[in-house]
Amino acid sequence: MVQKRGRGRIMRLKEKYPGVFFDGKDYYTRNADSGRSVYGERTVTVNGKEYRYWDPARSKLSAGIHRGLTKFPIRKNSKVLYLGAASGTTASHISEITENEVYAIEFAERPFRSLIKVSEKRGNLMPVLANARLPVQYRHIVPEVDTIYQDIAQRDQVGIFLKNMSFFNAKIGVLMLKARSVNVSEKPKKVFQRVADELSEYTKIEQAINLKPYEKDHMAFIVKA
Ligand SMILES: C[S@@+](CC[C@H](N)C(=O)[O-])C[C@H]1O[C@@H](n2cnc3c(N)ncnc32)[C@H](O)[C@@H]1O
Repeated sequence: MVQKRGRGRIMRLKEKYPGVFFDGKDYYTRNADSGRSVYGERTVTVNGKEYRYWDPARSKLSAGIHRGLTKFPIRKNSKVLYLGAASGTTASHISEITENEVYAIEFAERPFRSLIKVSEKRGNLMPVLANARLPVQYRHIVPEVDTIYQDIAQRDQVGIFLKNMSFFNAKIGVLMLKARSVNVSEKPKKVFQRVADELSEYTKIEQAINLKPYEKDHMAFIVKA
C-alpha cells in the first residue's frame, strides 16, 4: 500500500501481523470509524483507506510490539475477552484487528461511558459493566473465547487472570502485569519472577516482555493454556 505524504514523501504500509500495519517506524490499525480518532491519535489515509496510529505510550499492546513481541496474540478470527478496558484505547485497536467479537469488561462507570461511545461504530466491540473478579457476573453474556487480554492494576491481578482463563476456556492469554500493584515495596524483578513461576504452574509462557521505556515496572506475559 502506498500513499503520498506531505513534502512529497511516499508512505508505505506493510501488514506486519494480520490487521496490524507498519510504516517502517510506527504501527497502525484500520480505522473502523473513519474521520474520528479515539484518544487523539493521528490518522493516515493510504489508497483511500484510513488507519489509526497505534501509540505505544498509550497502549501496552503497542508497547509490546515495539519491544519485540513475536507471538502476536490476536488473529483475524479471535474471539477476545478484554479485562480492564477503561475507555477503550487498546480495545478499539483490538476490535479493528479481529473480525470476531471483543467483550470488554470494565467496572468503573466513568470510563465505561466513553467505552460505550467507542463501541457504537465498532459492531464487534461489546462493552460489559462488570467486575473481572466475578466472571459469574458476565458468563451469560460472554461465551468461550480464544484470547484473554488483561490490563488491571490490582494486587490480585494474576488470580483474576487465571480464573478468567479457566472460566472461559481461553487458549491464549496476555497479562499486562504492573509489579507495583502486586506489591509496592518489593523489587519489580522479584515480582516478575514470582508471577512467572505462578503462571508456569497453569500455563506455558510463550514470551515475557519488559515494557520499558513505555511503561515502568510492567511485564507483558503471553501465555498458552
Ligand atoms: C490501566 S487501566 C486500563 C487501560 C486500558 N487497558 C487500555 O489500554 O486502554 C485499568 C482499568 O482496569 C479497571 N479495573 C480495575 N479493576 C477491575 C476489575 N476488578 N474489574 C473490571 N475492571 C477493573 C479500572 O477501572 C481501569 O479502567
